[in-house]
Amino acid sequence: VSQINASTEWRSPSNLAIVKYWGKRNVQEPINPSVSFSLKNSVTITRVTATPLEKGGFTFSLNGVFNPAFHPKIETFLKQAQHHLPFIRNHHLTIESSNTFPHSSGIASSASSMSALALCLLSLHNLSIGKSPESVDLTMASGLSRFGSGSACRSVFGGWSLWGKFDEVKESSDTYAVPIPKNVVSPVFQDLKNAILIINSGSKSVSSSQGHQLMNQHPYREARVEQAFNHTGILLEILKTGDWDGFIETAENEALTLHGLMLNSSPSYTLMEPNSLQAIRLIRQARTDENLKIGFSMDAGPNLHVLYPASEVSKVESWIEENLKPLCQNQQIIYDSVGDGPINI
Ligand code: PMV
Repeated sequence: VSQINASTEWRSPSNLAIVKYWGKRNVQEPINPSVSFSLKNSVTITRVTATPLEKGGFTFSLNGVFNPAFHPKIETFLKQAQHHLPFIRNHHLTIESSNTFPHSSGIASSASSMSALALCLLSLHNLSIGKSPESVDLTMASGLSRFGSGSACRSVFGGWSLWGKFDEVKESSDTYAVPIPKNVVSPVFQDLKNAILIINSGSKSVSSSQGHQLMNQHPYREARVEQAFNHTGILLEILKTGDWDGFIETAENEALTLHGLMLNSSPSYTLMEPNSLQAIRLIRQARTDENLKIGFSMDAGPNLHVLYPASEVSKVESWIEENLKPLCQNQQIIYDSVGDGPINI
């Protein structure tokens, strides 16, 4: 492997799973398939500079500050990555990352940061073997980012993607995500809107890694896996037909199942907060009483992802401003939508 002195920068999105990945087996393989879309505004920008150094190593800064809290995760990731990208062994990596949203808050910062890092490493690897840094293999980037964080493997594609072997989609795999082609996604879901209510931007009391682990002994594990397979089939069909009501029913069921699994894990825990529940109640009320086309999803945290079609933006967003904003920490809401995926900058 030839030595390089080079920098590369990628901007990669977070994603929101509608069918959730929750529980793993083997090395970072999911116990069930998951389906998500990449976001447009919630992104990580990562710059990696490689300089020759016999013993390797790295430094990491987040939003301009050296941050050792992330070292173990990055170290595990680099150990896996060096099997495929040998330049990592004899280069020092300066990793500089910044997020456009609060980290560890239930917005998947690990998805955007690990996919951005994987893409940077693949670009540098390309340079080390005399190839163009932009022409990274996205399937490889997906498979690699999975070792940083499972959900990250779905962030390397724009639009919608599927991770996990699902027989009806023959190219699907447990070891990387595949994009769901745009031409089979109804326009309403190609341009889906997502307002992220920051109910609490603080760190989670129980990490996703611990949550995945609790699924190993979970009393409802088998039923959950079966349900996720069913929901995957249902959602893939809904994405084609544009069935809005079916979409919201599936999205909300998945979000509440995720939090339900936490409630009846052993030990039990909850990441929801009173204002998360209050927002859910108001959203459901507005749907029936005011006929608003609105629903929600959640990740592993207290924040709510409000979902609505682009055609309803002005109506829904003024309702959100009036009714949901007061429930948010510092009145913080991130208005986001389906995005086009990572770019090399
Ligand atoms: O990628 P991880 O290990 O942080 O797990 C993320 C799990 C959820 O965000 C809750 C669901 C998902 O599929 O993204």
